Amino acid sequence: MGSELHTEGLETGLDWGRHYLMVEPNHFRVDYTINPFMNLNDQPDRHRSREQWIAIIGAVEAAGGSVDVLPQLPAAPDMVYAMNLGLPLQDADGSPRVVLSHMRYRQRRIETPAADAWFAEHGYLRHTVGADGVGAHFEAGDAFAWRGDLVVGYGPRTEELGLKHLANELGVTVRGFRITHPGMYHMDLGFCPLDGTRAMVCPAAYDDDSAAALLALVPDPLVLSEEEALTFCANSIVVGKTIVMPACPGRVRAQLEEWGFTIVIVDVSEFLKAGGAIRCLTNPLDVRIGRDLAPVAGGRVLLA
Ligand code: ARG
Repeated sequence: MGSELHTEGLETGLDWGRHYLMVEPNHFRVDYTINPFMNLNDQPDRHRSREQWIAIIGAVEAAGGSVDVLPQLPAAPDMVYAMNLGLPLQDADGSPRVVLSHMRYRQRRIETPAADAWFAEHGYLRHTVGADGVGAHFEAGDAFAWRGDLVVGYGPRTEELGLKHLANELGVTVRGFRITHPGMYHMDLGFCPLDGTRAMVCPAAYDDDSAAALLALVPDPLVLSEEEALTFCANSIVVGKTIVMPACPGRVRAQLEEWGFTIVIVDVSEFLKAGGAIRCLTNPLDVRIGRDLAPVAGGRVLLA
């Protein structure tokens, strides 16, 4: 852990999470099934999807955040889940870079060139850990900056080898946690950083060693049962002291409110039909190396 990290987040929430990229849901539908929630016979309603997506933007803006929007490719129905387009970071000197995702499933690989174009247009240096099915898979919904390290889930989507690439390319500490639950196939379904010491964690998402290591990493965990996590309550975003959530079981709400968070629920029922909620639909653009991630020469990977 870098001693240069400041601890403001302890009282005020995360330092990042005020600026997001989202993809306009013009072509959102369920065309294939790559997670247990997708069902070709249960298609999202187009108008309701759009209303729900607009409500997320409203909630982010009301909490003091802002959103940039990228159009959706007609042939990429899952592209609405912007979190998976890549891992954007601001360098200590302010220059932006992104590690583009290398999706596990061929059906989503068409999204990466579109993400690449958007990030290029916005001045980002672009990294890849593999492309077009060659090399390690990495899906950005598996990666979070937290307490100076990059906390990464691997197994269903991101591959273990991808962690090494991330550590080397970025020069940071990557902590890997093995996901074993088929319904929590991305890190952002079983883990949600809340501030400098608190995070929601669902141990049932991981193998025993990883669950224990993740709980040991979080000073003040809000431990979710499998049932609670399957409401997608960890698939939430934190904008200052506001948490924008797709659902919030009563026990979880009580703890979050006791910690001083304001909970805003946005119904994203249509997006649950393809297995994603609020975190999946948003990608934070304001994570900073040197503030949120501690530089480590050459990078390193720590596995549970
Ligand atoms: N249908 C998408 C997939 O399976 C959902 C992605 C959810 N995104 C996330 N960050 N968890 O890839």
